[in-house]
Amino acid sequence: MLNVHKLWMFSGLCVIVIIILYFQSEIARLEDNYRKLEYRLAQTHSESRQFFPKSLAKGDDDLVVIYNRVPKTGSTSFVGIAYDLCKKNHFKVLHINITANMHVMSLNNQYKFAQNVTRWQDVKPALYHGHMAFLNFERLGTSSKPIFVNLIRKPLDRLVSYYYFLRNGDNFRPHLVRKKHGDKMTFDECVERSQPDCDPTNMWLQVPFFCGHSAQCWKPGSLWALEQAKRNLVDHYLLVGVTEEMLDFITVLESTLPRLFKGATEHYLNSNKSHLRQTSSKIEPSQATIDKIQESTVWKMENELYEFALEHFKFVKKKLLSRENNGVAQTYFYEKIRPK
Ligand SMILES: *[C@@H]1O[C@H](CO)[C@@H](O)[C@H](O)[C@H]1NC(C)=O
Ligand SMILES: *[C@@H]1O[C@H](CO)[C@@H](O)[C@H](O)[C@H]1NC(C)=O
Ligand SMILES: *[C@@H]1O[C@H](CO)[C@@H](O)[C@H](O)[C@H]1NC(C)=O
Repeated sequence: MLNVHKLWMFSGLCVIVIIILYFQSEIARLEDNYRKLEYRLAQTHSESRQFFPKSLAKGDDDLVVIYNRVPKTGSTSFVGIAYDLCKKNHFKVLHINITANMHVMSLNNQYKFAQNVTRWQDVKPALYHGHMAFLNFERLGTSSKPIFVNLIRKPLDRLVSYYYFLRNGDNFRPHLVRKKHGDKMTFDECVERSQPDCDPTNMWLQVPFFCGHSAQCWKPGSLWALEQAKRNLVDHYLLVGVTEEMLDFITVLESTLPRLFKGATEHYLNSNKSHLRQTSSKIEPSQATIDKIQESTVWKMENELYEFALEHFKFVKKKLLSRENNGVAQTYFYEKIRPK
């Protein structure tokens, strides 16, 4: 009698779980469809008002884009898309492998790299990616300048992701044994015991990545570095997206640089996202941990850069995707061209 009762309870529970799962997947599917629709709409609008001659795309054939990716910001997913598209769109993707993952290049390598990247015609158009700090080509006397793009992530999320990545690895290379493999300490425990691995100073990474190759950039808490990072972000980057809005980053990139990224949004939406890299067994930090980290100067400054980047990205996105009152996308053309 009791067993029958339990059986009923169990099947009831199963039914409820199935219903919840079903609705969850439905919601995800609808959201995806909605994004696709929105994107299609943006596309048809921009295509129907295409004033530019085809030769413009050809002029992009010596395009060089550098993506100086910050570790643990979703960069592997983004680069994966570029690798998927490069054959179809006829461009090259190159990984910059710097000894021991050093983020700052020596002066002679800076110079060599800048000359090589700008002169190497055989691989153009190209997307270079690597974990290196921003490099100002103006200093290096090259005749042309590459386009820089990047992604930025909420600083604490990035640190937590990195913390568990070192311990548990990810689904991208699951069999690779990471530096801190076997260490079971959670991020919360680490913060509680003030261990070096979760020291807020470790968050000082996005500021120096955008700041660049100067000594000041790498001093945790340097106000000068933060200001320089903001300047570079608006003056020297074509586009900086946020990890939390990867799809929009890709869509803006596609509409601005179709020579490389044509089809990227479709691809991102339709791929079964198997190339998405996820840190294994990540545990969200407690509110106490969050509060403690947010008291630190480094978090405050890193977060200021993040918020700055986010506001700028939203502004760029709004200009691009939003329609004016009459539902027409922004365009421009030349007229009164003289002499005839
Ligand atoms: C960079 O090159 C070194 C030496 O060849 C190699 O061991 C390492 O795996 C490379 N890094 C990446 C991220 O592929
Ligand atoms: C750039 O560097 C690569 C790799 O060292 C080399 O094969 C290529 O010839 C160089 N290109 C130029 C234009 O210097
Ligand atoms: C993911 O997509 C690829 C290519 O479209 C396909 O070969 C693969 O079977 C898919 N995997 C899953 C789990 O659906």
